[in-house]
Amino acid sequence: MAAMEWTDKLALGQVQMDDTHREFVDAYNRLLSTSGEALLVEMDAFIAHTVEHFDQENRWMALIGFPGCHKAEHDRVLAVCNDVRKRMALGDTALGRQLLQELPIWFDNHVATMDSALAAYIEAVGFDVQTGEIRKPPQDSCEDGSSGCCTPPVLSPDSQAA
Ligand SMILES: [Fe+2]
Ligand SMILES: [Fe+2]
Repeated sequence: MAAMEWTDKLALGQVQMDDTHREFVDAYNRLLSTSGEALLVEMDAFIAHTVEHFDQENRWMALIGFPGCHKAEHDRVLAVCNDVRKRMALGDTALGRQLLQELPIWFDNHVATMDSALAAYIEAVGFDVQTGEIRKPPQDSCEDGSSGCCTPPVLSPDSQAA
């Protein structure tokens, strides 16, 4: 499996999101390059980072009234990661490898759709992520599909259970 690379394709132009996403790539690569007993430690670190990553976006979405399925997608992916972590602890290394294979595909897709839509919405409403100030009133952006919620999920619980 190849390491993930940060490319301009992943950059959304929202500084905090881009920084967090670079950290995601780093955490994934540390996980990928680890084996043996250290794997569960690195998996815990990856999950802890992902909790913070998703919480940050979820907080912003709540503050600006960003509609749609983005938070549910975060919850679903975290549930998959936690489930795989549990099974890895029981010795299921194949499932761990499958998750490692699917995560980069999921991440590319998620950044290009839901995170991209969130970054655009943050910009559109003039939301300051540092102060929480909103310069323009939020408007519903889900009806026209611009919240990124119309893309089918790549990383599904079913594919993990197989
Ligand atoms: Fe993100
Ligand atoms: Fe996200």
